[in-house]
Amino acid sequence: MKIKTNVVFEHLLQSEKKITVEQGGTRSGKTYNILLYIIFKYCLENTGKTVTICRKTFPAVRSSVMRDFLDILKQYKSYSEAEHNKSNHEYKLNGNLVEFISLDQPQKVRGRKRNLLFINEANELDYEDWQQLVFRTEDKIIIDFNPSDEYHWLYDKVIPRDDADFYITTYLDNMFLNKSIVEEIERLKDTDETYWQIYGLGLKGVSKATIFNYIEVNKIPEDAEFVSYGADAGYSNDPTTLVSVYKKEHNLYIREHLYQTQMTTYDIANKWKQLGIQRETIYFDSAEPRLIEELKRMGFNVRPSLKGADSINAGIDLLKRFKIHIEADSHNCIQEFRNYKWQEDRSGKMINKPIDKNQHTIDAVRYATYSVLSKPNFGRYTII
Ligand SMILES: Nc1ncnc2c1ncn2[C@@H]1O[C@H](COP(=O)(O)OP(=O)(O)OP(=O)(O)O)[C@@H](O)[C@H]1O
Ligand SMILES: [Mg+2]
Repeated sequence: MKIKTNVVFEHLLQSEKKITVEQGGTRSGKTYNILLYIIFKYCLENTGKTVTICRKTFPAVRSSVMRDFLDILKQYKSYSEAEHNKSNHEYKLNGNLVEFISLDQPQKVRGRKRNLLFINEANELDYEDWQQLVFRTEDKIIIDFNPSDEYHWLYDKVIPRDDADFYITTYLDNMFLNKSIVEEIERLKDTDETYWQIYGLGLKGVSKATIFNYIEVNKIPEDAEFVSYGADAGYSNDPTTLVSVYKKEHNLYIREHLYQTQMTTYDIANKWKQLGIQRETIYFDSAEPRLIEELKRMGFNVRPSLKGADSINAGIDLLKRFKIHIEADSHNCIQEFRNYKWQEDRSGKMINKPIDKNQHTIDAVRYATYSVLSKPNFGRYTII
């Protein structure tokens, strides 16, 4: 059978390393040609293998990469209803099993071992997600993503690996695009410099709108004073987080203790116990009075975070008065601080409002600091 491919397919034929990273601008043919490789190369030449195709959330899997996969099979008259298990989102191809999963289904992530893993839009994943998947992949990992984050664990922890090949493609590598899409992409040159950099050229975007600077440290100094714990509550998509904050003169030190979805009150209490928390103050998202009350009844010294007029900006202002240090293995926290940005209006002018996205540890840090340090008498006496 003759299949039409682009350069991404060639990369995969050449790449002999365990990991192949396909960074790129929008519409460069990454996803489509990785799927062609999986279908017409990997699955045709192997049998008895397990292929996992994943993305952060299932609605995203369903509307993008799974749809492309089925469309390709149909287009090449290779689709068979009998091989398609629609309820489990699995497809049997030449004695291989292709499964579609998302990171919000932990039982599937931790499920069967796989031989080939394709992570679509890998920048949506947390570092822990990546590790869970990697530990259960035996042969090959393929990743695609748009480099829309200025800082990301992909740049630090995956691309520099000896066993990773790295490629960048742009819309110019995709001869299957029609003219109007090409024009739409090229319009970005004039309208949005950062977007053009990322989605046009496939290069890391650099933004002026980053809110915090910080330094990574190996260890929090022993003589830094404990400020408090801060906790933010999430459930299905957003993680529940816990951080502790310490202070020494004009330096703040932050340690991440928890960053996990699907945590019930009971799970949170267990985790806190494991961490050895007894009567230390924990400032908790004040929008969660029931959780706060439940945890209080379980014996923890939980208090609602201080609210107030414009408490987000006031909290950010307070944090900005300090030099911020984050422990180097607080990966999620570092990632959030790096990527936390001010919103921009249509003309690209910054507005005094942070983008409300991926700030779960930042919120926890804000609760811990603002609730304590905005009080005028902090440090003058100890509250027991
Ligand atoms: N080999 C091919 N044969 C036919 N059409 C193709 C091929 N490669 C790419 N295309 C077309 O180009 C479109 C864009 O490709 P694709 O979705 O792979 O880009 P992408 O790099 O994953 O983009 P994004 O970064 O926006 O996800 C596809 O939807 C498909 O219509
Ligand atoms: Mg894609």
